Amino acid sequence: MTRGAREFIGPITFEAVTGRPVHTEIFGPGHALDHIRLAREANVIVVAPATADFIGRAAHGLADDLLTACLLAATSKILFVPAMNDRMWAHAQTERNVAQARSLGYEVLEPAEGPLAVGEGSGPGRMPEPEEIMSQIGRLLESKSGLKGKKVIVTAGATREPIDPVRFISNRSSGKMGVALARAAWRRGADVTLITGHVDIPLPSELPVIKTDTVQEMAHSVGEELPTADVLIMAAAPADFRPSSEAGEKIKKGRSTPKIELEPTEDILKSTISRRKKNSVIVGFALETGDGVKNAKEKLKSKSLDLVVLNDAREPGAGFGVDTNRVTVIGRNGEQEDLQLMSKTDLADLLLDRVEEELRGR
Ligand code: CTP
Repeated sequence: MTRGAREFIGPITFEAVTGRPVHTEIFGPGHALDHIRLAREANVIVVAPATADFIGRAAHGLADDLLTACLLAATSKILFVPAMNDRMWAHAQTERNVAQARSLGYEVLEPAEGPLAVGEGSGPGRMPEPEEIMSQIGRLLESKSGLKGKKVIVTAGATREPIDPVRFISNRSSGKMGVALARAAWRRGADVTLITGHVDIPLPSELPVIKTDTVQEMAHSVGEELPTADVLIMAAAPADFRPSSEAGEKIKKGRSTPKIELEPTEDILKSTISRRKKNSVIVGFALETGDGVKNAKEKLKSKSLDLVVLNDAREPGAGFGVDTNRVTVIGRNGEQEDLQLMSKTDLADLLLDRVEEELRGR
Protein backbone atom coordinates (compact mmCIF):
# COMPACT_ATOMS: atom_id res chain seq x y z
CA MET A 1 0.00 0.00 0.00
CA THR A 2 1.29 3.42 -0.94
CA ARG A 3 0.97 6.42 1.37
CA GLY A 4 -1.99 7.55 -0.75
CA ALA A 5 -3.74 4.17 -0.37
CA ARG A 6 -3.30 4.34 3.40
CA GLU A 7 -5.19 7.65 3.46
CA PHE A 8 -8.27 5.66 2.39
CA ILE A 9 -7.88 2.31 4.19
CA GLY A 10 -5.63 1.29 7.06
CA PRO A 11 -3.16 -1.56 6.41
CA ILE A 12 -4.64 -3.59 9.29
CA THR A 13 -8.10 -3.48 7.72
CA PHE A 14 -6.59 -4.48 4.40
CA GLU A 15 -4.68 -7.34 5.97
CA ALA A 16 -7.77 -8.56 7.84
CA VAL A 17 -9.98 -8.46 4.75
CA THR A 18 -7.50 -10.11 2.37
CA GLY A 19 -5.79 -12.44 4.82
CA ARG A 20 -2.45 -11.43 3.26
CA PRO A 21 0.51 -9.54 4.64
CA VAL A 22 0.50 -5.87 3.68
CA HIS A 23 3.78 -4.18 2.78
CA THR A 24 4.12 -0.42 3.15
CA GLU A 25 7.73 0.54 3.92
CA ILE A 26 10.84 0.78 1.81
CA PHE A 27 13.15 1.90 4.62
CA GLY A 28 13.62 0.62 8.13
CA PRO A 29 15.12 -2.38 9.89
CA GLY A 30 14.18 -5.64 8.19
CA HIS A 31 12.81 -3.95 5.08
CA ALA A 32 16.00 -3.15 3.18
CA LEU A 33 15.53 -5.77 0.47
CA ASP A 34 11.71 -6.04 0.41
CA HIS A 35 11.44 -4.28 -2.95
CA ILE A 36 13.81 -6.74 -4.60
CA ARG A 37 12.25 -9.83 -3.02
CA LEU A 38 8.64 -8.81 -3.75
CA ALA A 39 9.50 -7.91 -7.36
CA ARG A 40 11.29 -11.22 -7.88
CA GLU A 41 8.42 -13.30 -6.44
CA ALA A 42 5.70 -11.71 -8.58
CA ASN A 43 4.32 -13.26 -11.77
CA VAL A 44 2.40 -10.09 -12.41
CA ILE A 45 2.20 -6.73 -10.64
CA VAL A 46 -1.19 -5.00 -10.72
CA VAL A 47 -1.53 -1.45 -9.47
CA ALA A 48 -5.24 -0.85 -8.84
CA PRO A 49 -6.25 1.87 -8.49
CA ALA A 50 -3.41 3.72 -10.21
CA THR A 51 -3.72 7.44 -9.47
CA ALA A 52 -2.53 10.30 -11.69
CA ASP A 53 0.33 10.90 -9.26
CA PHE A 54 1.39 7.25 -9.23
CA ILE A 55 1.37 6.94 -13.04
CA GLY A 56 3.43 10.14 -13.29
CA ARG A 57 5.98 8.87 -10.79
CA ALA A 58 6.24 5.45 -12.42
CA ALA A 59 6.52 6.97 -15.91
CA HIS A 60 9.49 9.01 -14.72
CA GLY A 61 11.28 6.16 -13.05
CA LEU A 62 11.03 7.45 -9.49
CA ALA A 63 11.66 4.84 -6.85
CA ASP A 64 11.02 6.70 -3.62
CA ASP A 65 8.52 4.28 -2.13
CA LEU A 66 8.15 0.51 -1.94
CA LEU A 67 5.80 0.20 -4.91
CA THR A 68 7.72 2.34 -7.41
CA ALA A 69 10.99 0.67 -6.32
CA CYS A 70 9.38 -2.74 -6.92
CA LEU A 71 8.45 -1.73 -10.45
CA LEU A 72 12.06 -0.91 -11.31
CA ALA A 73 13.28 -4.18 -9.83
CA ALA A 74 10.60 -6.29 -11.56
CA THR A 75 10.93 -8.43 -14.67
CA SER A 76 7.27 -9.55 -14.57
CA LYS A 77 4.33 -8.12 -16.50
CA ILE A 78 2.97 -4.92 -14.96
CA LEU A 79 -0.59 -3.67 -15.20
CA PHE A 80 -1.86 -0.21 -14.18
CA VAL A 81 -5.60 0.23 -13.60
CA PRO A 82 -6.20 4.00 -13.63
CA ALA A 83 -8.83 5.66 -11.44
CA MET A 84 -9.06 9.41 -11.16
CA ASN A 85 -11.17 12.47 -11.87
CA ASP A 86 -12.07 12.78 -15.58
CA ARG A 87 -10.32 16.15 -15.96
CA MET A 88 -7.16 14.74 -14.40
CA TRP A 89 -7.32 11.79 -16.82
CA ALA A 90 -7.78 14.19 -19.78
CA HIS A 91 -4.90 16.48 -18.71
CA ALA A 92 -2.09 16.72 -21.27
CA GLN A 93 0.47 15.80 -18.58
CA THR A 94 -1.44 12.61 -17.67
CA GLU A 95 -1.72 11.76 -21.37
CA ARG A 96 2.05 12.11 -21.71
CA ASN A 97 2.69 10.08 -18.57
CA VAL A 98 0.41 7.27 -19.77
CA ALA A 99 2.10 7.23 -23.19
CA GLN A 100 5.52 7.18 -21.50
CA ALA A 101 4.46 4.36 -19.15
CA ARG A 102 3.19 2.34 -22.12
CA SER A 103 6.43 2.92 -24.02
CA LEU A 104 8.27 1.45 -21.02
CA GLY A 105 6.23 -1.74 -21.39
CA TYR A 106 3.69 -1.10 -18.65
CA GLU A 107 0.18 -2.17 -19.60
CA VAL A 108 -2.18 0.73 -18.82
CA LEU A 109 -5.94 0.08 -19.02
CA GLU A 110 -8.37 2.69 -20.26
CA PRO A 111 -10.49 3.82 -17.31
CA ALA A 112 -14.21 3.04 -17.45
CA GLU A 113 -16.84 5.69 -18.02
CA GLY A 114 -19.50 6.33 -15.41
CA PRO A 115 -20.24 8.11 -12.14
CA LEU A 116 -17.09 9.47 -10.44
CA ALA A 117 -16.66 10.66 -6.84
CA VAL A 118 -19.76 12.30 -5.33
CA GLY A 119 -20.54 15.66 -6.94
CA GLU A 120 -18.01 15.11 -9.69
CA GLY A 121 -20.49 13.92 -12.32
CA SER A 122 -19.62 11.21 -14.76
CA GLY A 123 -16.93 10.58 -17.35
CA PRO A 124 -13.85 8.51 -18.17
CA GLY A 125 -11.88 7.99 -14.96
CA ARG A 126 -13.71 5.26 -13.09
CA MET A 127 -11.75 2.17 -12.14
CA PRO A 128 -12.69 -0.69 -14.51
CA GLU A 129 -14.80 -3.45 -12.96
CA PRO A 130 -13.05 -6.41 -11.25
CA GLU A 131 -14.19 -8.82 -14.02
CA GLU A 132 -12.33 -6.76 -16.58
CA ILE A 133 -9.23 -6.50 -14.40
CA MET A 134 -9.25 -10.29 -13.85
CA SER A 135 -9.64 -10.82 -17.59
CA GLN A 136 -6.67 -8.56 -18.28
CA ILE A 137 -4.54 -10.35 -15.69
CA GLY A 138 -5.48 -13.70 -17.22
CA ARG A 139 -4.49 -12.49 -20.68
CA LEU A 140 -1.17 -11.11 -19.41
CA LEU A 141 -0.32 -14.40 -17.70
CA GLU A 142 -1.43 -16.64 -20.55
CA SER A 143 1.53 -18.14 -22.29
CA LYS A 144 0.67 -21.54 -23.66
CA SER A 145 -2.90 -21.40 -24.92
CA GLY A 146 -3.47 -22.70 -28.43
CA LEU A 147 -5.86 -19.80 -28.92
CA LYS A 148 -3.18 -17.16 -28.52
CA GLY A 149 -3.19 -14.95 -31.63
CA LYS A 150 -6.06 -16.92 -33.22
CA LYS A 151 -9.02 -15.03 -34.58
CA VAL A 152 -12.23 -16.13 -32.83
CA ILE A 153 -15.79 -15.03 -33.61
CA VAL A 154 -18.40 -15.57 -30.92
CA THR A 155 -22.08 -14.74 -31.34
CA ALA A 156 -24.39 -14.19 -28.37
CA GLY A 157 -27.94 -13.25 -27.48
CA ALA A 158 -31.29 -13.10 -29.24
CA THR A 159 -32.15 -11.48 -32.54
CA ARG A 160 -35.22 -9.28 -32.87
CA GLU A 161 -37.35 -9.52 -35.99
CA PRO A 162 -39.61 -6.48 -36.42
CA ILE A 163 -43.37 -6.75 -36.80
CA ASP A 164 -43.88 -2.99 -36.89
CA PRO A 165 -41.83 -0.01 -35.58
CA VAL A 166 -42.58 -0.93 -31.95
CA ARG A 167 -42.95 -4.71 -31.87
CA PHE A 168 -40.73 -7.65 -32.63
CA ILE A 169 -40.40 -11.42 -32.41
CA SER A 170 -37.55 -12.62 -30.24
CA ASN A 171 -36.62 -15.35 -27.75
CA ARG A 172 -35.38 -15.77 -24.20
CA SER A 173 -31.64 -15.95 -24.88
CA SER A 174 -29.76 -13.74 -22.39
CA GLY A 175 -26.34 -13.86 -24.08
CA LYS A 176 -24.63 -15.16 -20.91
CA MET A 177 -23.08 -18.25 -22.49
CA GLY A 178 -21.76 -16.34 -25.52
CA VAL A 179 -20.35 -13.48 -23.44
CA ALA A 180 -18.63 -15.98 -21.11
CA LEU A 181 -17.08 -17.71 -24.14
CA ALA A 182 -15.90 -14.43 -25.68
CA ARG A 183 -14.32 -13.31 -22.40
CA ALA A 184 -12.61 -16.65 -21.81
CA ALA A 185 -11.22 -16.76 -25.37
CA TRP A 186 -9.93 -13.22 -25.03
CA ARG A 187 -8.31 -14.09 -21.69
CA ARG A 188 -6.48 -16.91 -23.47
CA GLY A 189 -4.93 -14.38 -25.83
CA ALA A 190 -7.25 -14.78 -28.82
CA ASP A 191 -8.19 -11.93 -31.11
CA VAL A 192 -11.92 -12.08 -30.32
CA THR A 193 -14.85 -10.38 -32.01
CA LEU A 194 -18.16 -10.69 -30.18
CA ILE A 195 -21.23 -10.28 -32.38
CA THR A 196 -24.35 -9.82 -30.30
CA GLY A 197 -28.06 -9.61 -30.76
CA HIS A 198 -30.02 -8.44 -27.74
CA VAL A 199 -28.31 -9.38 -24.45
CA ASP A 200 -29.43 -8.90 -20.85
CA ILE A 201 -26.00 -8.46 -19.25
CA PRO A 202 -23.23 -5.84 -19.46
CA LEU A 203 -21.01 -6.33 -22.51
CA PRO A 204 -17.26 -6.82 -22.05
CA SER A 205 -15.28 -3.63 -22.58
CA GLU A 206 -11.94 -5.34 -23.18
CA LEU A 207 -12.77 -6.69 -26.63
CA PRO A 208 -14.51 -5.45 -29.81
CA VAL A 209 -18.28 -5.93 -29.86
CA ILE A 210 -20.49 -5.65 -32.95
CA LYS A 211 -24.14 -5.11 -32.06
CA THR A 212 -26.79 -6.40 -34.41
CA ASP A 213 -30.55 -6.60 -34.31
CA THR A 214 -31.95 -9.03 -36.88
CA VAL A 215 -30.74 -12.37 -38.25
CA GLN A 216 -29.92 -10.59 -41.50
CA GLU A 217 -27.66 -8.11 -39.72
CA MET A 218 -26.01 -10.83 -37.64
CA ALA A 219 -25.44 -12.96 -40.75
CA HIS A 220 -23.88 -9.95 -42.49
CA SER A 221 -21.46 -9.26 -39.60
CA VAL A 222 -20.50 -12.92 -39.27
CA GLY A 223 -19.92 -13.01 -43.05
CA GLU A 224 -17.58 -10.01 -42.88
CA GLU A 225 -15.43 -11.49 -40.10
CA LEU A 226 -15.54 -15.11 -41.27
CA PRO A 227 -12.89 -15.33 -44.03
CA THR A 228 -10.05 -14.73 -41.54
CA ALA A 229 -11.56 -16.53 -38.54
CA ASP A 230 -9.84 -19.62 -37.09
CA VAL A 231 -12.81 -20.34 -34.83
CA LEU A 232 -16.53 -19.56 -35.06
CA ILE A 233 -18.71 -20.22 -32.02
CA MET A 234 -22.41 -19.67 -32.69
CA ALA A 235 -23.81 -19.30 -29.18
CA ALA A 236 -26.46 -16.81 -30.30
CA ALA A 237 -30.10 -17.72 -30.67
CA PRO A 238 -31.03 -16.27 -34.05
CA ALA A 239 -34.72 -16.41 -34.88
CA ASP A 240 -35.80 -19.15 -37.26
CA PHE A 241 -38.77 -17.14 -38.57
CA ARG A 242 -39.51 -13.49 -39.17
CA PRO A 243 -42.64 -11.61 -40.25
CA SER A 244 -42.70 -11.69 -44.05
CA SER A 245 -43.25 -7.95 -44.09
CA GLU A 246 -42.68 -5.21 -41.54
CA ALA A 247 -45.57 -2.77 -41.17
CA GLY A 248 -44.38 0.80 -41.81
CA GLU A 249 -46.66 2.21 -39.08
CA LYS A 250 -47.59 0.85 -35.69
CA ILE A 251 -50.38 -1.70 -36.16
CA LYS A 252 -53.44 -0.22 -34.42
CA LYS A 253 -56.05 -2.07 -32.45
CA GLY A 254 -58.85 -2.63 -34.92
CA ARG A 255 -61.90 -4.75 -35.06
CA SER A 256 -60.05 -7.74 -36.38
CA THR A 257 -56.96 -9.32 -34.86
CA PRO A 258 -54.03 -9.00 -37.26
CA LYS A 259 -52.51 -12.16 -38.69
CA ILE A 260 -48.75 -12.18 -38.86
CA GLU A 261 -47.38 -14.20 -41.69
CA LEU A 262 -43.93 -15.64 -41.08
CA GLU A 263 -41.12 -16.65 -43.41
CA PRO A 264 -37.91 -18.55 -42.60
CA THR A 265 -34.75 -16.59 -41.90
CA GLU A 266 -31.33 -17.45 -43.21
CA ASP A 267 -29.49 -20.17 -41.24
CA ILE A 268 -26.28 -18.34 -40.40
CA LEU A 269 -24.19 -21.43 -39.71
CA LYS A 270 -25.30 -23.14 -42.93
CA SER A 271 -24.65 -20.03 -44.98
CA THR A 272 -21.03 -19.99 -43.80
CA ILE A 273 -20.22 -23.55 -44.95
CA SER A 274 -18.67 -22.63 -48.30
CA ARG A 275 -16.96 -19.49 -47.00
CA ARG A 276 -15.06 -20.78 -43.97
CA LYS A 277 -11.31 -20.45 -43.63
CA LYS A 278 -9.52 -23.74 -44.27
CA ASN A 279 -9.01 -25.76 -41.08
CA SER A 280 -11.19 -23.46 -39.01
CA VAL A 281 -13.05 -24.92 -36.03
CA ILE A 282 -16.82 -24.41 -36.04
CA VAL A 283 -18.93 -24.82 -32.91
CA GLY A 284 -22.71 -24.74 -32.83
CA PHE A 285 -25.26 -25.08 -30.05
CA ALA A 286 -28.40 -27.14 -30.13
CA LEU A 287 -31.24 -26.15 -27.90
CA GLU A 288 -33.72 -28.96 -27.72
CA THR A 289 -36.82 -29.93 -25.82
CA GLY A 290 -37.25 -33.40 -27.29
CA ASP A 291 -34.90 -36.08 -28.56
CA GLY A 292 -31.76 -34.06 -27.92
CA VAL A 293 -28.85 -36.25 -28.95
CA LYS A 294 -30.44 -37.34 -32.22
CA ASN A 295 -31.35 -33.77 -33.19
CA ALA A 296 -27.96 -32.42 -32.15
CA LYS A 297 -26.19 -35.00 -34.29
CA GLU A 298 -28.34 -34.00 -37.23
CA LYS A 299 -27.41 -30.35 -36.72
CA LEU A 300 -23.74 -31.28 -36.49
CA LYS A 301 -24.01 -32.88 -39.92
CA SER A 302 -26.30 -30.46 -41.72
CA LYS A 303 -24.40 -27.41 -40.46
CA SER A 304 -21.01 -29.10 -40.91
CA LEU A 305 -19.81 -28.51 -37.35
CA ASP A 306 -16.79 -29.79 -35.45
CA LEU A 307 -18.55 -29.65 -32.10
CA VAL A 308 -22.16 -29.28 -31.09
CA VAL A 309 -23.13 -28.28 -27.58
CA LEU A 310 -26.51 -29.66 -26.64
CA ASN A 311 -28.70 -28.29 -23.91
CA ASP A 312 -32.25 -28.99 -22.91
CA ALA A 313 -34.36 -25.84 -22.68
CA ARG A 314 -36.61 -27.43 -20.07
CA GLU A 315 -33.96 -28.69 -17.67
CA PRO A 316 -33.74 -26.59 -14.47
CA GLY A 317 -30.44 -24.70 -14.19
CA ALA A 318 -29.65 -25.09 -17.89
CA GLY A 319 -30.23 -22.96 -20.96
CA PHE A 320 -31.80 -19.51 -21.15
CA GLY A 321 -31.25 -16.76 -18.63
CA VAL A 322 -29.57 -18.72 -15.80
CA ASP A 323 -25.90 -18.57 -14.76
CA THR A 324 -25.41 -22.32 -15.01
CA ASN A 325 -25.66 -24.87 -17.78
CA ARG A 326 -25.63 -28.62 -18.18
CA VAL A 327 -24.68 -29.76 -21.63
CA THR A 328 -23.63 -32.70 -23.71
CA VAL A 329 -20.78 -32.05 -26.11
CA ILE A 330 -20.81 -34.10 -29.31
CA GLY A 331 -17.85 -34.21 -31.69
CA ARG A 332 -17.68 -34.83 -35.43
CA ASN A 333 -16.94 -38.53 -35.01
CA GLY A 334 -19.88 -39.05 -32.72
CA GLU A 335 -17.87 -38.94 -29.47
CA GLN A 336 -20.19 -37.74 -26.76
CA GLU A 337 -19.41 -36.20 -23.37
CA ASP A 338 -22.11 -35.57 -20.76
CA LEU A 339 -20.93 -32.74 -18.54
CA GLN A 340 -22.08 -31.92 -15.01
CA LEU A 341 -24.15 -28.88 -14.15
CA MET A 342 -21.67 -25.99 -13.86
CA SER A 343 -21.41 -22.22 -14.15
CA LYS A 344 -21.40 -20.80 -17.68
CA THR A 345 -17.96 -19.32 -17.02
CA ASP A 346 -16.52 -22.75 -16.10
CA LEU A 347 -18.28 -24.31 -19.07
CA ALA A 348 -16.81 -21.64 -21.37
CA ASP A 349 -13.30 -22.70 -20.32
CA LEU A 350 -14.08 -26.36 -20.76
CA LEU A 351 -15.48 -25.80 -24.26
CA LEU A 352 -12.44 -23.73 -25.22
CA ASP A 353 -10.20 -26.60 -24.08
CA ARG A 354 -12.07 -28.75 -26.61
CA VAL A 355 -11.67 -26.09 -29.30
CA GLU A 356 -7.92 -25.96 -28.59
CA GLU A 357 -7.73 -29.75 -28.93
CA GLU A 358 -9.44 -29.49 -32.32
CA LEU A 359 -7.05 -26.74 -33.42
CA ARG A 360 -4.03 -28.80 -32.34
CA GLY A 361 -5.09 -31.65 -34.58
CA ARG A 362 -4.99 -29.46 -37.74
N1 CTP B 1 -28.40 -20.88 -35.93
C1 CTP B 1 -27.99 -20.12 -37.00
N2 CTP B 1 -28.89 -19.42 -37.75
C2 CTP B 1 -30.22 -19.50 -37.48
C3 CTP B 1 -30.66 -20.29 -36.39
C4 CTP B 1 -29.73 -20.98 -35.63
O1 CTP B 1 -26.79 -20.07 -37.28
N3 CTP B 1 -31.07 -18.81 -38.22
C5 CTP B 1 -27.39 -21.59 -35.13
C6 CTP B 1 -27.47 -21.34 -33.63
O2 CTP B 1 -26.66 -20.25 -33.24
C7 CTP B 1 -26.95 -22.66 -33.04
C8 CTP B 1 -27.34 -23.68 -34.10
O3 CTP B 1 -27.61 -22.95 -35.29
O4 CTP B 1 -25.54 -22.66 -32.94
C9 CTP B 1 -28.57 -24.50 -33.74
O5 CTP B 1 -29.61 -23.67 -33.36
P1 CTP B 1 -31.01 -24.25 -32.87
O6 CTP B 1 -31.94 -23.13 -32.59
O7 CTP B 1 -30.79 -25.26 -31.80
O8 CTP B 1 -31.47 -25.08 -34.13
P2 CTP B 1 -32.13 -24.69 -35.50
O9 CTP B 1 -31.11 -24.92 -36.57
O10 CTP B 1 -32.73 -23.35 -35.43
O11 CTP B 1 -33.23 -25.83 -35.67
P3 CTP B 1 -34.58 -26.09 -34.81
O12 CTP B 1 -35.08 -24.75 -34.38
O13 CTP B 1 -35.46 -26.79 -35.77
O14 CTP B 1 -34.19 -26.98 -33.65
